[in-house]
Amino acid sequence: MESDFPKIDTREMGSTGEKVSAIGLGTYGISNYKKGEEAFAYAVERGVNLIDTAEIYNTEDFVGNVIRKVGRENLFITTKVAPKNLTSKESTLRSARGSLKKLGIKTVDLILIHWPHDTMSISEQVKNIESVQKEGLTRYIGVSNFSVKQMEEARSSTKSSEIVCNQVEYNMSKRDVEKDVIPYCEKNEMSVVAYTPIEKGTPNMYKGMKDVSISTGKTSIQISLNFLMRYTSVLPIPKSENLEHIKEILGSTGWRLKDKDIALLD
Ligand SMILES: NC(=O)c1ccc[n+]([C@@H]2O[C@H](COP(=O)([O-])OP(=O)(O)OC[C@H]3O[C@@H](n4cnc5c(N)ncnc54)[C@H](OP(=O)(O)O)[C@@H]3O)[C@@H](O)[C@H]2O)c1
Repeated sequence: MESDFPKIDTREMGSTGEKVSAIGLGTYGISNYKKGEEAFAYAVERGVNLIDTAEIYNTEDFVGNVIRKVGRENLFITTKVAPKNLTSKESTLRSARGSLKKLGIKTVDLILIHWPHDTMSISEQVKNIESVQKEGLTRYIGVSNFSVKQMEEARSSTKSSEIVCNQVEYNMSKRDVEKDVIPYCEKNEMSVVAYTPIEKGTPNMYKGMKDVSISTGKTSIQISLNFLMRYTSVLPIPKSENLEHIKEILGSTGWRLKDKDIALLD
């Protein structure tokens, strides 16, 4: 490891007291496992510990390989239960056990409701996801793609757990969460995990981006991620299986956009 390489910034996951890296890594669509494992190991050596997967991504086995490569203690692993498996306590536990088997671990750090089931009540969904924590299969629970109203219902339905995050789409072209989801999460000490944060690798070249890129010496990907991280609750999880892309992503932390640059991008 290059010891002089600055470790990337850390943030707290919700109000758990758990330190996670300000940038996490998504895994949807990883296809070249060997290349991906090397790129992920590089990121972990530089302080990235947050890794995101889901039972429907077919990448839990890839994350299992990463865990064995870098060591379980160096990672904070999130997976997600698909709504179709949330319909009973038994099916939710079966899904979680299936995920753990593919990951090759006994407990995940965080499990999310991938998106709200469209006919079940939120309280039933929360009861079932809480059972995963009660069984000791996850340390924390959270939600994804929940509106403020759904988060309110979820938070008031918990019996013994807290909802530590909401994972939502957030990037420079999709900023509606700034109006309601982010303020709600900040007020209630929840993290906002930002998915598709670099718009699939081609951030929109807004007016101002070029000027900010020249004045900061950073790329549009780095500026976009730093822009999202101006909220301390936000944890972007870009996906890359390409070492050069991961290096660029990691260069989005350790510095801050000036207020005038934020205003220009805003
Ligand atoms: N909760 C949900 O409902 C939900 C929904 C969607 C996604 N997610 C999670 O969020 C993660 C990220 O979102 P996403 O995968 O949709 O989109 P994203 O992270 O915005 O973009 C990923 C794409 O960008 C490319 N890329 C990465 N770094 C790059 C760079 N420096 N230069 C150019 N291209 C680059 C990647 O290709 P390379 O691999 O070749 O670098 C990949 O094709 C997912 O992987 C998943 O874990 C969650």
